[in-house]
This record gives sequence, C-alpha cells and structure tokens, in this order.
Amino acid sequence: MIDQIAASVPESCQAGVDLSTPGGDQWLDDLADGLTEHGWMSQDVSVLLTPSLLKGLRSEVRILDRTEALRKAGVGRGQDLLQDRSVRRDKIAWLQGVTPVQAALFEFFESVRLGLNERLFLGLKRFEAHYATYHNGDFYRRHVDSFQGRASRVVSLVLYLNEGWQEADGGALQIFNRENENEVCGVVLPLAGRMALFMSEEIPHEVLPAHRTRYSVACWFRCDEVPLPL
Ligand code: OGA
Ligand code: MN
Repeated sequence: MIDQIAASVPESCQAGVDLSTPGGDQWLDDLADGLTEHGWMSQDVSVLLTPSLLKGLRSEVRILDRTEALRKAGVGRGQDLLQDRSVRRDKIAWLQGVTPVQAALFEFFESVRLGLNERLFLGLKRFEAHYATYHNGDFYRRHVDSFQGRASRVVSLVLYLNEGWQEADGGALQIFNRENENEVCGVVLPLAGRMALFMSEEIPHEVLPAHRTRYSVACWFRCDEVPLPL
C-alpha cells in the first residue's frame, strides 16, 4: 500500500510516503488503537507525508485564500446550510484530488480508509476533504461532525499545515470527553504534519480562536456511497 503511494506521486513534486520509515504499518495500528480505546488520537505524520507535500498543500491553500476562492463555511448542508458566524468562522474549499499534491494526499487518505477498515471493520466507503483557513480571531465552537441517525460521517481526520505554531498562537483543537462534554480530555496544536483523528459522531470538539492564520485539511471518512447531508 505504501509503495503505491510513493510510486504514483510525480517526481517533480517529491511528495508521498517515505519508504525508509521503519515500522511499516505501525502508524495504522496506532490510529486504530487510539480510536478504539479513546475515540480519538493525534499523531505526527510528517515523516510519512514528507515536508514537500506539506509545503505544497500549504502553498495551495494560501493561494486559494489570497484569490478569495475560499467560501465561508456553513453548518449543515444543502437546504439545511446555515452560515452562523457565532458557531464557526473558518473559510473552506473542497478538494477534488486533481493537483499533484492533492492526489498524493488522497492516496494517503485512502491508505487510512483501507487501514481502518481492515482493523476496525468500519465499512468506510469513501472520504471527502476540504481546506480550511482560520484568520485571526476565527474559531469553531464545540460540536460533533455527524448527527446520530444520519451517521454518514464515521471518522474525522484533520491534518495541520502550520510551521512553528506556538501555544500563544491559539487555534488549538480541544477534544472533549465523550461521556461528559464539559471535560476537556485532549488539546492538539495545529502544527504542520500533525493530524487529529476522532469518531465523528461521538467526540465533541472545538477550535479555539486563532491569533494568526491557521491552515488545515479536514477529511471525513463516510459509510455512504452517495453524498447525503452531513
Ligand atoms: C471541523 C473541525 C477541527 C480543526 O472542520 O469540523 O472541527 O482542528 N476542525 O480544524
Ligand atoms: Mn468538527
């Protein structure tokens, strides 16, 4: 699986999985264990993704941001879409997987999808992903990514693209206890190459106000074949 990712990435882009990574699929075992035991986990995947892929993704989202190609994000979809600035203030652009860096990233997401299905039998059929930019002061209040009963988003993944992010820059992802949504049980700084993974329906989470521009890719692994709202 890992061979395929590296092999299919154009050489000029030099993005993809680093084959010299010792431990083989250990990172997938760790993801599956984290999800099983706690419902969430965070992992540094900069070695797997390579600095040039992370840099390529960051320059893409920065260009989109500068050209105003990013749209204000809403809550819900289709007819239910609400742009409520008291809930979330980020701006997003959906990825199509067509540029070389997006294609490489999609192969990584696909390896996560297959790896989780093999280990946890989640029946993840596909994924969707968007870039997100939080400008100074932007936040996303506590929420879950999928509502019970609709259950189409099963696992959420967020990959961060920010070099040298400090605690004082704000913008941390706060993870709440799934049994008590007032108890913070994890904090993830949005540092380049770090990713957070959690069960979409179970884990309340929040993006604290960012004090500098914060770039990320959010991805949802879904159990439906065709798009349905959330
Ligand atoms: C989201 C989200 C978390 C983050 O986009 O639904 O919760 O850390 N993102 O960006
Ligand atoms: Mn979310």
